[in-house]
Amino acid sequence: MRPVLLMKVFVTRRIPPEGRAALARAAEKRCNRPLNPDPPPEAHPAPHGPSLQLAARLAAQPFCEVEQWDSDEPIPVKELERGVAGAHGLLCLLSDLVDKRILDAAGANLKVISTLSVGVDHLALDEIKKRGIRVGYTPDVLTDTTAELAVSLLLTTCRRLPEAIEEVKNGGWTSWKPLWLCGYGLTQSTVGIVGLGRIGQAIARRLKPFGVQRFLYTGRQPRPEEAAEFQAEFVSTPELAAQSDFIVVACSLTPATKGLCNKDFFQKMKETAVFVNISRGDVVNQDDLYQALASGQIAAAGLDVTTPEPLPTNHPLLTLKNCVILPHIGSATHRTRNTMSMLAANNLLAGLRGEPMPSELML
Ligand code: NDP
Ligand code: DGY
Repeated sequence: MRPVLLMKVFVTRRIPPEGRAALARAAEKRCNRPLNPDPPPEAHPAPHGPSLQLAARLAAQPFCEVEQWDSDEPIPVKELERGVAGAHGLLCLLSDLVDKRILDAAGANLKVISTLSVGVDHLALDEIKKRGIRVGYTPDVLTDTTAELAVSLLLTTCRRLPEAIEEVKNGGWTSWKPLWLCGYGLTQSTVGIVGLGRIGQAIARRLKPFGVQRFLYTGRQPRPEEAAEFQAEFVSTPELAAQSDFIVVACSLTPATKGLCNKDFFQKMKETAVFVNISRGDVVNQDDLYQALASGQIAAAGLDVTTPEPLPTNHPLLTLKNCVILPHIGSATHRTRNTMSMLAANNLLAGLRGEPMPSELML
């Protein structure tokens, strides 16, 4: 007893267990390895008939078939084109560029794209809108986790923790020295936040108890209601660069923010200032950042995001002691990634059913 039309879903990577299970409950299994095999019957003894899981499957009537790129590594473009062909739903990651070529490869069936991210800069939104495709994404559920990482990165960078750890290991620690490994602290500082959105606010909330004296922020327009919690002042980008002791970039990547942190920006910063970016690599001109760090124009930088990702291991930024680089782990806790995957799966399934999505990006 199948519905007349079985929706085809393509998933571009292995995803965390909760999202995987949500898809598997709705799906017929069709991938190079089973998406989420039912546990063997003995694991769930069923004294009065079929196991609960099987009963749910019978009652729910699978309405989609799921094919998955069963790997932790990115799907090659050719495989993505092949996999998405004829699909009604696509569950993708921030590393999958969903451009006109992929949309053409998918064809007219494609109704829903669900991305396992809050950032949507990898999606050709104009083209997607033109085709009437709905988009699901994962705001809110990763806000606290990402803000926690931003604060960790800021503290790691401004107090020079990687250098200090290295000195302990390499014998550089010869004595307690008054002038050695000094950094910059948050007490009585001015913090500038580029983009006082969900994550920007969560970062400010966490930094406030460190004794920050003043918060500045930029954006397309002032956000007086959100800013009130931190008495944050809306300023121009050059003012934020010039007045801040710490700058945290937490905006979305758009044509307007691409390359926003460039030579002009870094030249305006204080020599003692620390720069942190957790948004997207392309918000920063990395050549200009390298020059600013290498010449002592600014004190240090902490990056959770780069261009490209992964950053080649011979990249000049990796030669600098005053640059701390993490491999895009802002939302990387078990709980958050599981929740994101569940939300992404539910967005996809709701979209395929023509229902409101838990988190739909309004195009
Ligand atoms: P929000 O939409 O809540 O915030 C986006 C912010 O970007 C808003 O404050 C907005 O300000 C600002 N912004 C947009 N245009 C400009 C502009 N021209 N100049 C300055 N600011 C601008 O999104 P989230 O806070 O949830 O996420 C923000 C971004 O963080 C994501 O898009 C993603 O790229 C990145 N991210 C990175 C993670 C990581 O693992 N490192 C994890 C999660 C997210 P306004 O509206 O006032 O203009
Ligand atoms: C996002 O969601 O946009 C992050 O970059 C990864 O969680």
